[in-house]
Amino acid sequence: MKEKILILEDEPNMRKTLSSILTEEGYISLETDKAKDGLKILSQENISLVVSDIKMPQMDGLQFLREVRSSGYDIPVILVTAYGSFDSAVEALRLGAYDYITKPFNPDAILYTIRRALEHRKLKEENIYLKEELEKKTGFEELVGDTKCMHEVYSLIEKVAESKVPVILRGESGTGKELVAHAIHKRSLRKDKNFVILNCGALPETLLESEIFGHEKGAFTGADKRKLGIFEIGDEGTIFLDEIGDLTLSIQMKLLRFLQSGEFIRVGGIAPIKVDVRIISATNQNLEKLIENNKFRSDLYYRINTVSINLPSLRERKDDIPLLIEHFLIKYSKEDNIPLKKISKEVYNVLYKYQWPGNVRELENLIRAVLVLSRGNIVNLQDLPAVIRQESVVTQEDGKNVSSSLEYSFKDIKEKAERDYLLSLLKKVEGNISKASKIAGFSRRHLYDKLKQYGIDPRQLKIEN
Ligand SMILES: Nc1ncnc2c1ncn2[C@@H]1O[C@H](COP(=O)(O)OP(=O)(O)OP(=O)(O)O)[C@@H](O)[C@H]1O
Ligand SMILES: [Mg+2]
Repeated sequence: MKEKILILEDEPNMRKTLSSILTEEGYISLETDKAKDGLKILSQENISLVVSDIKMPQMDGLQFLREVRSSGYDIPVILVTAYGSFDSAVEALRLGAYDYITKPFNPDAILYTIRRALEHRKLKEENIYLKEELEKKTGFEELVGDTKCMHEVYSLIEKVAESKVPVILRGESGTGKELVAHAIHKRSLRKDKNFVILNCGALPETLLESEIFGHEKGAFTGADKRKLGIFEIGDEGTIFLDEIGDLTLSIQMKLLRFLQSGEFIRVGGIAPIKVDVRIISATNQNLEKLIENNKFRSDLYYRINTVSINLPSLRERKDDIPLLIEHFLIKYSKEDNIPLKKISKEVYNVLYKYQWPGNVRELENLIRAVLVLSRGNIVNLQDLPAVIRQESVVTQEDGKNVSSSLEYSFKDIKEKAERDYLLSLLKKVEGNISKASKIAGFSRRHLYDKLKQYGIDPRQLKIEN
């Protein structure tokens, strides 16, 4: 469909010139010499863009622009200024003109500016449209997903949100456990109080203990002030204990005592302190296995495990992949200030076939990277990292390996085999690099390089789920 452009110019020769430049380029041009008539045309015709002179009798271009904006039209307006009238150009931009050009202009310059403005408008409209579509489909806090298993998650979140029942979130790394914990908090009666996150695996035991329970002045060397722990900071709010499987047995016992009594004592203190917190915990480890190996207390397990929400891996909800892709495209085009791009059909197919060991986090990082790195408005196959391309080339949809096929280069097959080998090796040794390098006959250094090459994170493979 041809785009309609309105020309506002009081000088007949100039109007004609502009009009013929536009029609030659395939636009439909409508012209008038009065701003008032211009406003009328805007209300009657579907105009995509306005080119307006600034200097006109009666209403000038700047006033016209003000009227356009105050009437709520969001179309791009390009103003034409006389050479040297810098002040009015600045004023034009301030009032929301898309750009300005100075007289005399060359046709290519104005056509370039028009094309850019129309493109900009189109992307903006698409952006709004996609965002609305997404909101319709998702609409559950920041969680994206429209598959049955995600709706089950949403329904569980709703059911538990308003009570104080302990919830444990389970699922592979990158499946959205933290996001779900946050969603529960935001839907609860505690939403205006603190949501405090503690990563149980990130600190050595003594520091962790004071992080949780706080400490008194002089409790240990270096404790020169009293410090509140997360239970006090999160009083009346929600505490998210992430990676709870990493807690040492002694802290597990203290935590259990608190869960039973609602009271605790600061490190180095004597007086019990009572708080009201809601506990949500998360793990990507197999707690039952940890209990078997005496690494996790079963009484604590029963306390925190009243309701368990299992987050599906991305492999189990592949139909959400397009929705997630759109979501991250919009998110990062905004955050990183990059024009919205499209994903080619081939890329969709490859991303659909890929197995996503790092789940939504891996997809999110990938989309952000291709948005930044790819050239042009469309993301094509060659913009994807080799690992992802290969993985989906040599794995059929039913998951069967087709490495015997002669359609692929030797390098493709070799790299695929290498990656598969490393993945299962690391799984077997539960992420232990020393063991893995011994079995593989690699130096640790060489093993690390290989893992980096294939984007494998050994920490994700600690214990299989
Ligand atoms: N359903 C989802 N919709 C939108 N974004 C998601 C979804 N699930 C995960 N993400 C995004 O993926 C990333 C990882 O999510 P999150 O940190 O919640 O995962 P996790 O399960 O806690 O992982 P880990 O076990 O590694 O800590 C985040 O940036 C999050 O915003
Ligand atoms: Mg997490």
